[in-house]
Amino acid sequence: MTLDEIAIEVRKCTKCALSKGRKNAVPGEGNSKAEILFIGEGPGQNEDAQGKPFVGEAGKFLEEMLSLINFKREDVFIANVVKCRPPHNRDPLEEEVDECVRNYLYGQIKAIKPKLIVTLGRHSMRVFFPQIKSISSVHGKAYKKADQVYLILYHPAAALYQRSLAEQMKEDFKQIPEILEKIKKGN
Ligand code: URA
Ligand code: SF4
Repeated sequence: MTLDEIAIEVRKCTKCALSKGRKNAVPGEGNSKAEILFIGEGPGQNEDAQGKPFVGEAGKFLEEMLSLINFKREDVFIANVVKCRPPHNRDPLEEEVDECVRNYLYGQIKAIKPKLIVTLGRHSMRVFFPQIKSISSVHGKAYKKADQVYLILYHPAAALYQRSLAEQMKEDFKQIPEILEKIKKGN
């Protein structure tokens, strides 16, 4: 499926209970040929209202970090693990994550074929690395699995609650160009 076809399916999806509380599903957006795919957790209130990913405060911080490496949000693709807002921003349930990832996120990865997948926060990390228990020991690390490179980062919203994380997140983020270069050189 193409990204547009996936987005059409997402917008009318009722495969899990999160469809009941949403105003708008948020398929994700950006460059369909992006080298970097960012994967957050799920839409919050602003994203639900607008149908777009990372348009609230966390999105502002993500854009600020992108500018540190001379990227704009249009250069990358930004998606989420679940495409519909969990009620009161609760954590997505395992069955909701499974359903959404299996039906849509995997298809998005196949369509984009990013050189680098950046996971934002523990829910996104766990989709690809279920065995890792704590994000605090692995943030800022890149992993290769089945020929795909992943960089694990804290969720941008975490830096808004905990100011001390903001500087660490920026340092982690600044590694992206070097990681991309290495991938392009084939090591
Ligand atoms: N947090 C997320 O995980 N995703 C968004 O799209 C916005 C905030
Ligand atoms: Fe469908 Fe995903 Fe929304 Fe659940 S969260 S209704 S699986 S698009």
